[in-house]
Amino acid sequence: MTKVLIATVKPFAKAAVEQIKSTLDEAGYESVFFEKYASQDDFVGAVADADAMIIRSDKVTPEVIEAAKNLKIVVRAGAGYDNVDLEAATAKDVVVMNTPGQNSNAVAELAIGMMVYQARNHFNGTSGTELKGKKLGIHAYGNVGRLVANIARGFGMEIFAFDPFVAKEKMEAEGVTVCDTVEDLYAVSDYLSLHIPANEHTKKSVNYSLLSNMKDGAVIVNTARKEVIDEEGLMKIMEEKPNFKYVSDIAPDSKDALAEKFEGRVFFTPKKMGAQTAEANINAGIAGAKQIIAYLESGDTTFKVN
Ligand code: 3PG
Repeated sequence: MTKVLIATVKPFAKAAVEQIKSTLDEAGYESVFFEKYASQDDFVGAVADADAMIIRSDKVTPEVIEAAKNLKIVVRAGAGYDNVDLEAATAKDVVVMNTPGQNSNAVAELAIGMMVYQARNHFNGTSGTELKGKKLGIHAYGNVGRLVANIARGFGMEIFAFDPFVAKEKMEAEGVTVCDTVEDLYAVSDYLSLHIPANEHTKKSVNYSLLSNMKDGAVIVNTARKEVIDEEGLMKIMEEKPNFKYVSDIAPDSKDALAEKFEGRVFFTPKKMGAQTAEANINAGIAGAKQIIAYLESGDTTFKVN
């Protein structure tokens, strides 16, 4: 029997677990849920006889690939696959896929929620500000960025974006003012929502020099990855601009120092929760199960990323 290991240190919602299981049951596959595991060693120990895996931000390292002797496919139920060692997977002929778009709405809603939270002074009872009329910069106009723009429009925000991989005409047709350079985007934004992936080109790319373009009083909203921020540069900007704010769904390494120094100007969720909705879990989890079935039954490689 084909064995699918659903390895999620951060488990899917109950409804999603049930639906992933029934999708795999119908195909005649065995599903094994390996949730809330304590260590990476435990993960390595659990993969021995898995033919396929569904993961979230779980780390598929060369050790995991090496230990998973029967593994043919890994689906990252989500968008970012920076947690999978693609080189190690490819070397062992393991196909890696993601499920783009399936959890985007959940992330977009959280990004807007974090803007409101910061605009209203962390709901501390004092007078805050409104999003209406403010300029929102979207850094990368992919699935999430586009949804953030849609919701923000309802708040009466003015939308700007920078994305060299999306046609200018497409963004303009959706009512977005396209910035020619990333520096222009950062300079115009009252709120800057990050939607770039973490890769060799983007890690630490949101650095002091880029942040220097921003207004004092601007808010950076990070629902992407902590790695894209140069934390030293962030610290320096926050010292220089007394009203600059940073809210993030992925706590930075220097979270304690930032929280202590800049009370009220930073906020970090305790655990990455952008995709933590039942809907997102169901969408991404079922897509993962179906992609595994389609690949193993008929060689369908849509959404392959390696
Ligand atoms: C993604 O890349 O899809 C999101 O960051 C969600 O990550 P998670 O599945 O670990 O919540």
